Amino acid sequence: MSAVAVVTGANRGIGWHTAQQLALLGYQVVLTARSAAAAERAAAQLREQGGRAWPFELDVRDSVGAARLAAWLGNHLGRVDLLINNAGVFLDDAVSLLDLDDATLHTTLNTNLLGPIYLCRALVPMMLAQNYGRIVNLSSGYGALNDMGPNIAAYRISKAGLNALTAVLAAELTGTNVKVNSVCPGWVRTDMGGPKANRDPAEAAADVVWAATLDDDGPSGAFLRYRERIPW
Ligand SMILES: NC(=O)c1ccc[n+]([C@@H]2O[C@H](COP(=O)([O-])OP(=O)(O)OC[C@H]3O[C@@H](n4cnc5c(N)ncnc54)[C@H](OP(=O)(O)O)[C@@H]3O)[C@@H](O)[C@H]2O)c1
Repeated sequence: MSAVAVVTGANRGIGWHTAQQLALLGYQVVLTARSAAAAERAAAQLREQGGRAWPFELDVRDSVGAARLAAWLGNHLGRVDLLINNAGVFLDDAVSLLDLDDATLHTTLNTNLLGPIYLCRALVPMMLAQNYGRIVNLSSGYGALNDMGPNIAAYRISKAGLNALTAVLAAELTGTNVKVNSVCPGWVRTDMGGPKANRDPAEAAADVVWAATLDDDGPSGAFLRYRERIPW
């Protein structure tokens, strides 16, 4: 039985390229998206390219949805090897913390931080049961505590929290073959990064795939950019 990868927000951007590259490597890929139609379109495109791909409707803000995904994986594919917590929003560019509205704050934290927590909580037990798992949390330099600046508070705090999730979970997983790392993909040409960004999304996805397929002696609990450790 070949390994199973789950990619959230796999319908576009870095998530789409990550799903595509994992399918090319032979993974069975579960493409989650909050729109069922978008998930199906993306999965169908991978199947046309010869990949083994399944769509799954999931709004990552929904903890029940994460549990539903775990049950579906158990029933249909029998395992989960990789979890790519990619889905994210960037809604408060140039906004001061003092001007941050509740909707932006809640949407950002629920999507970028609580979503990955729900998914780790739901899927790590299956990884532990098979003593293999790799989790990549898509983080950002905006979440680096050593390099904090003004504004973008909701996004920065969500990614700093995501890094804390990486560190706490890695500590809890010490002694197992389940690894979790944060990856900053750099500034990437996607809907989020915009057309002026200096990195190609396929190149950024290749770094995510690298972190998701680390050997047993690879790092866990690290903050990585361009395949190197960076300070938290
Ligand atoms: N691009 C950059 O320069 C950059 C830099 C640093 C970090 N990152 C991080 O990399 C990750 C991917 O970014 P990207 O540039 O590929 O962004 P993107 O092109 O804007 O794509 C974001 C993805 O997240 C999905 N998403 C948003 N809210 C969701 C929700 N509640 N439930 C499920 N899916 C949801 C979107 O789905 P819909 O299509 O339904 O909206 C879309 O698939 C993010 O975590 C981002 O913070 C990006």
